[in-house]
Amino acid sequence: MRIVKQELKDIMQNKLHKAGLTESHAETVADVLVHADARGIHSHGAMRVEYYAERIAKGGINAAPDFKFDKTGPCTATFDGDNGAGHVAAKLAMDEAIKMAKENGIAAVGVRRISHSGALSYFVQQAAKEKLIGISVCQSDPMVVPFGGAEPYYGTNPIAFAAPGNDGNFIQFDMATTVQAWGKILHARSKNEQIPDTWAVNENGEPATDPFDVRALLPIAGPKGYGLMMMVDILSGVLLGLPFGNKVSSMYHDLTEHRNLGQLHIVINPEFFTGINGFMDNISQTMEDLNHLKPAPGFDRVSYPGQRSAEREKKYEEEGIEIVDDIYEYLISDAIHHDAYDQKDPFAK
Ligand code: NAI
Repeated sequence: MRIVKQELKDIMQNKLHKAGLTESHAETVADVLVHADARGIHSHGAMRVEYYAERIAKGGINAAPDFKFDKTGPCTATFDGDNGAGHVAAKLAMDEAIKMAKENGIAAVGVRRISHSGALSYFVQQAAKEKLIGISVCQSDPMVVPFGGAEPYYGTNPIAFAAPGNDGNFIQFDMATTVQAWGKILHARSKNEQIPDTWAVNENGEPATDPFDVRALLPIAGPKGYGLMMMVDILSGVLLGLPFGNKVSSMYHDLTEHRNLGQLHIVINPEFFTGINGFMDNISQTMEDLNHLKPAPGFDRVSYPGQRSAEREKKYEEEGIEIVDDIYEYLISDAIHHDAYDQKDPFAK
């Protein structure tokens, strides 16, 4: 079904507030989620609300966190999220990183002790909207076989990057370092669709095509993706003194527990390098150059990263956002489930 963006945001916000978040935190989480759905990243939108609501209701997401911002140097800081909703801490930490980068040219802010923060594109866009380069990386639960391994060690550890062009446009990529994000497996499950055999493995480490058989994901590009996910774990876990590798908490193991996840935002101010205007002109030029390259057979054009999502967002503004009917029914109901996810095998339905 299709639903108007504001209505989708409102019903998610209501549900999260009903589960226990303050109005203001529920509003921010819903804003990050609706951003994802509006850009077609359904794996990190409305479909996550049922899980978040259960974890909030059980105290595994702190509904009244005591955030602490600690400026550790002219360009560095930590932001302690006190295991509240990761979306809120990550957003506020990015606001601080933006202020510091405007003043000093660059900022690195480590976001410590948070819960899942959703689609990272939201946070790098905050920087791009302020004419800054945004980079964000975060940990996620260990569910990826390292290259050459038969059991999981790292998470899907995403990397997001945004750089501003002219007229409010920006280049942006935001990707899990796995062939697909775990949410894509969940999305395939919710739609009862098969998955390609390059995404994940079954319990024997063999390619899985039934999303319900998946027991671990595969890194992008073999050893190269494995190296990138290790880098993310070091920057957002080891560097911040948090659990790392296969010690990172599971999303579903015990929903009463805090997750203690880490995220790192890096913001670079082009004004301290080539100058903002020249930089944005050349980002726009990059977009144009890419769009004018000869497309390969089967492609209508070469898109710059983030272009299709931005176009989808415009289309959804006009036509409404497409979401699964069951998810809508759940969102408008009074239900807060207490046994939908807790203590489940992370790979269970
Ligand atoms: P994806 O596979 O949908 O997209 C990856 C990138 O490829 C995007 O930047 C997209 O703009 C670009 N792209 C796709 N098609 C393109 C085309 N034809 N031309 C040019 N560029 C194109 O993303 P993925 O890996 O499935 O990640 C989805 C979301 O999951 C992300 O928002 C990520 O932040 C989030 N995530 C969050 C985690 C967390 O713990 N908070 C963990 C893992 C992922």
